[in-house]
Amino acid sequence: MKKQLKNVLAIAMAAAMALTAAGCSTSTEQTATTEDAAQTEQAAPEDTEENVLIMATNAEFPPYEYYQGQEIVGIDVEIARAVAQSMGMELAVEDMAFDSIIPALLSGKADIGAAGMTVTEERQATVDFTDTYVTASQAIIIKADNTEIAGPADVEGKVIGVQLGTTGDLYASDVTQTVERYNKGFEAVQALSQGKIDAVIIDDQVAKALAADNADVKVLDEPFTTEEYAIAVKKGNTELVESINAALAELKESGQLQQIVDKYITAE
Ligand code: ARG
Repeated sequence: MKKQLKNVLAIAMAAAMALTAAGCSTSTEQTATTEDAAQTEQAAPEDTEENVLIMATNAEFPPYEYYQGQEIVGIDVEIARAVAQSMGMELAVEDMAFDSIIPALLSGKADIGAAGMTVTEERQATVDFTDTYVTASQAIIIKADNTEIAGPADVEGKVIGVQLGTTGDLYASDVTQTVERYNKGFEAVQALSQGKIDAVIIDDQVAKALAADNADVKVLDEPFTTEEYAIAVKKGNTELVESINAALAELKESGQLQQIVDKYITAE
């Protein structure tokens, strides 16, 4: 996402067209946006490169973000697209490792991180979060025939599988020395069904989605923790946080946010 002054837009667009034709990137980026620039800024839907909101995610997280064929779909993708749309922008989704999302924001490779990302104090040291849009919890998955683990207290000291760098990773590390970290949640569930680990701690809806594909495992009813998801941006990007919050408020108000959630999560 780049900022432009209205009066340079025509020139910029001409330059962009010429450069795009020549296979170069445009040089119209404004690194330091002044208050004035922000106020006179106008969305220019026809100027795609200037008008793209880049979302960093990790598409290993159904129903929030996952591959359907070649396409990344899910709750976060639809919410982010609706947010972008209400900001007069288009959304581009970049898939990466979960622990690369914050670095991508800090380096400016991406504008927003939307990845079922829990608001934590540790993350708040480097990124700012928008208002929250989902309340979730960390759930425990065990082997379907496990009679030993019935609730959160029973995973203490056990071999727990998690997705690397997630809050599940953080909380598991609080209760056991033996945390097995996987790049993808489904790899943890696979290891569980193969008897390599005792339990998996992962976000509740994701746990359900992953367990639904695997008859060997089940999700415990009692959650390990509760937490809230929000969209992350580079620290200090207050203007973007405010625009996203305004868009989120609209989506909540109109019921569209709930519709998106309901499309992917059927109530029990
Ligand atoms: N809510 C957890 C966290 O913030 C897990 C998020 C994982 N997201 C993903 N797209 N893989 O740490």
